[in-house]
Amino acid sequence: MNNFNFYNPTKVIFGKGNIEKLSQEIPAEAKIMITYGGGSIKNNGVYKQIVTALEGFDFIEFGGIEPNPKYETLMKAVEIVRNEGVDFLLAVGGGSIIDGTKFIAAATYFNGDPWDILTKGTEVTKALPLGVVLTIPATGSEMNARGVITKIATKEKFAFYIPLIAPKFSILDPSVAASLPVKQAANGVVDIFSHIIEQYLTYDVNHPLNDRFAEAILITLVEEGPKYVADTSNYDAAANIMWAATMALNGLVGSGVPVDWSSHRIGHEITALNNIDHGITLAIVMPGVMSIMRKEKKDKLLQYGQRVFNVSNGDEQSRIDETINKTVAFFQSLGVKTRLSDYNLGEETINIIVQRFKDRKTVLGEHNNITPEKVREILLDRL
Ligand code: NZQ
Ligand code: ZN
Repeated sequence: MNNFNFYNPTKVIFGKGNIEKLSQEIPAEAKIMITYGGGSIKNNGVYKQIVTALEGFDFIEFGGIEPNPKYETLMKAVEIVRNEGVDFLLAVGGGSIIDGTKFIAAATYFNGDPWDILTKGTEVTKALPLGVVLTIPATGSEMNARGVITKIATKEKFAFYIPLIAPKFSILDPSVAASLPVKQAANGVVDIFSHIIEQYLTYDVNHPLNDRFAEAILITLVEEGPKYVADTSNYDAAANIMWAATMALNGLVGSGVPVDWSSHRIGHEITALNNIDHGITLAIVMPGVMSIMRKEKKDKLLQYGQRVFNVSNGDEQSRIDETINKTVAFFQSLGVKTRLSDYNLGEETINIIVQRFKDRKTVLGEHNNITPEKVREILLDRL
C-alpha cells in the first residue's frame, strides 16, 4: 500500500426530504448567492424547496451555468459576488454547477486572471465558503475539492484541485433524480464507473481493502445502474447510485493506490473540442485504454473481469478481451454509444488531440507512459 493523506471535511446530509435542513447549515447572517444551471430546478420543484427552506435569509441568484461550465459565464458571477458582497455560495445542480461554483469561490479573492489557477496551478489562499444541493448522481464533486472548467475562447477544458473549496455541506436527496432525462442518468452511471476504473485498474500494490471498495462500487453500478436508468423515480435505485457516486470520488477509493486518469484527460479534450457530454467521452475512451494498455494493466484487468463480470474461462488475452467486451456491453445496455464514429468524430479530432498533448508535453497514466502517440492508438481503437 502506498502512503497517503485522507482528509474530507464535507458534511453529507443524505435522504428524502432533507433540503428543508438547509437553514441549519448556512449562517443566518450570510449574504447568499444561489447558483444553478439551465432551469431544471425550476421545473422539478427543487428551486421551490430551496426558497422555502431559506425563508428569512438574504439571497440572490445566478442561473445559466452551462453543462461543462464556462469560464466566461463564471467570471460574470464573480463580478456580481464582488459587487454585492456575497459571502456564501449555494450550488444547486450537478457537477457542472458545483464545479462552476467552486471556481467562483476561488476566483472571487484571486489577484490576476483566475484562469491561471487551472493552467499554471497558482495557489489559492482564500475562497468563499460553499454548500451544495445535488441534483444528479455522477461526478462526486459534492464531496471533493475538484473542478473542471472550460474556456470557450480557446476550446480548452482543465481541472483544478483546491483543498479550500471543498463544500461545507452537501444535501443528497435521491428523490430529485426523478426528473432526470434518461441520457443524463446513463451518463452519470458511466462517469461513476470510470472514476473507479481510473483509481483501480492500474497495478497491484497489495491493498486488498481498497480493491474491494472499488469492486463493491462497480458491482453496485452493474446491479443497480440499469434499474435506475430505466426509472429514475425508483428511490432505492437512485439512492444506491447517488451514494456510489459520492463514495467513488471523495478520496477514499484512491487512498494508497496508483491512479490513472488518462480516460478523463483524453475525454476532456473530446468535450472541449466537440461539446460531447463528459460521461459519453468516457464510454468511448475507457475501453481503448483497457485494450491498448492491456500489458501494463494485465493483472488488474484479469481481477476486474473475474470479480465484476465473472470472466474466468480461457487464456489471459481472451479473458481480457471478454472483460472489455462486457464493459462495453454494460455501457451500451444503458443506452450510451461507445465509438467516436457514433458521434461523427474521426481522425481529424484524433490529430488535434494528439497535437495538443504533444504541444503541452503531456504524458498520461499510472506509469506516465501514455505518450501522445499512445493516445492516438487508444483513439484509433475507438473509431
Ligand atoms: O442545467 P440544468 O438545468 O442543471 O440541467 C442539467 C444539465 O442539463 C441536467 N440535470 C441535472 N440534474 C437534473 C437535471 N435535469 C433534470 N432533473 C435533474 N434532477 O443534467 C444536465 C447535466 O448536468 P451536469 O451538471 O453537467 O452533469 P454532471 O453532474 O454529469 O457534471 C458534468 C461536469 O462535471 C465535471 C465534468 O467534466 C463536467 O464538466 N466533472 C467534475 C468532477 C469533479 N468535480 O470531481 C469529476 C468528474 O470526472 C467530471 O470531470
Ligand atoms: Zn468523470
